[in-house]
Amino acid sequence: MGSSLALRGEALFNAARCLDCHVDTFRTTAYHPHAELRDQTIHPYTDLLLYDMGPSLDSTLEEPHASGREWRTAPLWGIGLTTAVSGGEAYLHDGRARTLDKAILWHGGEAEVSKQAYAALTLLQTG
Ligand code: HEC
Repeated sequence: MGSSLALRGEALFNAARCLDCHVDTFRTTAYHPHAELRDQTIHPYTDLLLYDMGPSLDSTLEEPHASGREWRTAPLWGIGLTTAVSGGEAYLHDGRARTLDKAILWHGGEAEVSKQAYAALTLLQTG
């Protein structure tokens, strides 16, 4: 992938507000018990927080500290290598999304506006 394509993707990711939850950069604490993990800049593309993702991602599973439709932001680092590493694609908490496109279009709730922005981009490209 050319770097200009990657930069264009980053700009679209930003414009669609994906970064509101999939936060790109963190600095690890200076107090981590393992010296090699202290003061590291990482790019996890998650804020590690829980969000209400709407009825489509509702689950009947009862988990402590989270309602059925609350999910922790999945880290996106390395996601482009999923097929190579895992031999297939199965995104979201239950692996229901077989493509990145479907994973994004299943977003709702607090991510609804972001999902709509993404859907509008897709329409612009194909239509
Ligand atoms: C309101 C917070 C929020 C916003 C905004 C958001 N996401 Fe997410 N995203 C999540 C959460 C929470 C999950 C995990 C959902 C689950 O496990 O079912 C997730 C999961 C994903 C996944 C699946 C990752 C995996 O490994 O299963 C992809 C891909 C993704 N998001 C891409 C995007 C893109 C692209 C955008 C912007 C168009 C976006 N997200 C906007 C919260 C958000």
